[in-house]
Amino acid sequence: MSEKGKLLIVDDEAVALRNLERVMNKAGYQVTAVQSGEEALALLETQEFELLLTDLRMEKVDGMRLLKTCRELHPDSEVIMITGYASAQSAVDAMKQGAFYYITKPFRLDEVRKVVAEAMEKIRLRNENRNLKQQIEALQDQVKIVTQDSGMLSLLGLARQIAPTDCNVLVVGESGTGKELFARYLHQQSTRHDGPYVAVNCGAFSKDLLANELFGHEKDAFTGAHSLKKGLIETASGGSLFLDEVTEMSPDMQVKLLRVIQENEVLRLGATQPIKVDLRVIAATNHDLAEAVRNGVLRQDLYFRLNVVTLSIPPLAKRKGDIPLLAQYFLQKYTVQMNKTLTGIAPEVLEALQRYDFPGNVRELENIIARGCAVSSGERIELANLSEELRQQDGITIPGKGEKFPTLEQQERTYIRWVLNELDGNQTAAATALGINRSSLWRKLKTYEEESNNNG
Ligand SMILES: Nc1ncnc2c1ncn2[C@@H]1O[C@H](COP(=O)(O)OP(=O)(O)OP(=O)(O)O)[C@@H](O)[C@H]1O
Ligand SMILES: [Mg+2]
Repeated sequence: MSEKGKLLIVDDEAVALRNLERVMNKAGYQVTAVQSGEEALALLETQEFELLLTDLRMEKVDGMRLLKTCRELHPDSEVIMITGYASAQSAVDAMKQGAFYYITKPFRLDEVRKVVAEAMEKIRLRNENRNLKQQIEALQDQVKIVTQDSGMLSLLGLARQIAPTDCNVLVVGESGTGKELFARYLHQQSTRHDGPYVAVNCGAFSKDLLANELFGHEKDAFTGAHSLKKGLIETASGGSLFLDEVTEMSPDMQVKLLRVIQENEVLRLGATQPIKVDLRVIAATNHDLAEAVRNGVLRQDLYFRLNVVTLSIPPLAKRKGDIPLLAQYFLQKYTVQMNKTLTGIAPEVLEALQRYDFPGNVRELENIIARGCAVSSGERIELANLSEELRQQDGITIPGKGEKFPTLEQQERTYIRWVLNELDGNQTAAATALGINRSSLWRKLKTYEEESNNNG
């Protein structure tokens, strides 16, 4: 909010308008004065005002219409209605539609000044309240990135370093590595942290719906567009826009997004006038973007714009030292959340986790621990609390209560895989370790592969 608030005054009567403008300017408000409802409407659709002071009866676009638009587009603003045709009914209507006050002409200027000051005070208090609430929420909602891996730590350092700049960031990494977590971290560490953080999963919408969500639309832009709708790009203005799964954007949407990034303005569907926006875009993908560009899935110019800095998050299997740390962190989180009394994780469990390759990365580890917490009835998460798949990671599978004993053949298979994994996929070394020759190891692996292909 500007020092004393932005005020829009609308009156088709020139003298009244000038009088109001003069008095409000003198009172220190940032005043815009226009003489028709149409002009006011155009301004309301593209700018923010804290307060609208409007005449009720005007040609074409009247005060009620402006009031309605204000309620839709700027629910936080207040409206004061002025009319020369005092009628109890119109006053009631205006108040019902959410007007702050209703003044009849001829008015005394000091009366208007008083009402305006009251409305501005109400807005100020509400903003103050909201800021306090947001600060409290932000404190409770501090992003915590848990790691002790040197690569991850330097990535965090880079993130902290670029966060306060407005450069666009591309976050890449396999599913579940923490891309969204980094995006939230960037926002929190940025100077925009009090502004909105808006996350959009581009893969979650059909093409038309995504355009509508991102860009919004004018009233009557298409059949069914009964009222004007702000898009998420506009909503994110002043803050950060997180675009998840960017490669899911259609080519024409990519062109539109490029325009937003280049021009810092957005065009609602069906609009002719662009609206200024102030954005930091953070995009994420688990695809190889260079390849997406080569295949024509992603426009190269957009790729360059998004990819000012890349944060590439390594898969969990490449930073196994994080596994015990994250496991402890999630144990604590779910113990509290599930109201349990767990105090630790059995060493065999940590060993099994160390051997596992986590295709679902940190999210999968989180789920494993959450499940362990849920099913454990003791003080620790035990091997028996893990899923069968995980227990079979070990050369020896410990069956859970009531579960079938695995066959020798199943045990052999998991053991062979484990040894191979431990030896970084080196088949010659694995064959030696297992005491079989290389070709029989190869035959066994081939059988497993065929079986898993047939099953999947
Ligand atoms: N280093 C970490 N410290 C603490 N929690 C983490 C860490 N990395 C990931 N997580 C947690 O793991 C889960 C998955 O992370 P996130 O949603 O950020 O992954 P993602 O890369 O966006 O996944 P996807 O590609 O599937 O969208 C979240 O609950 C997140 O809080
Ligand atoms: Mg994600």
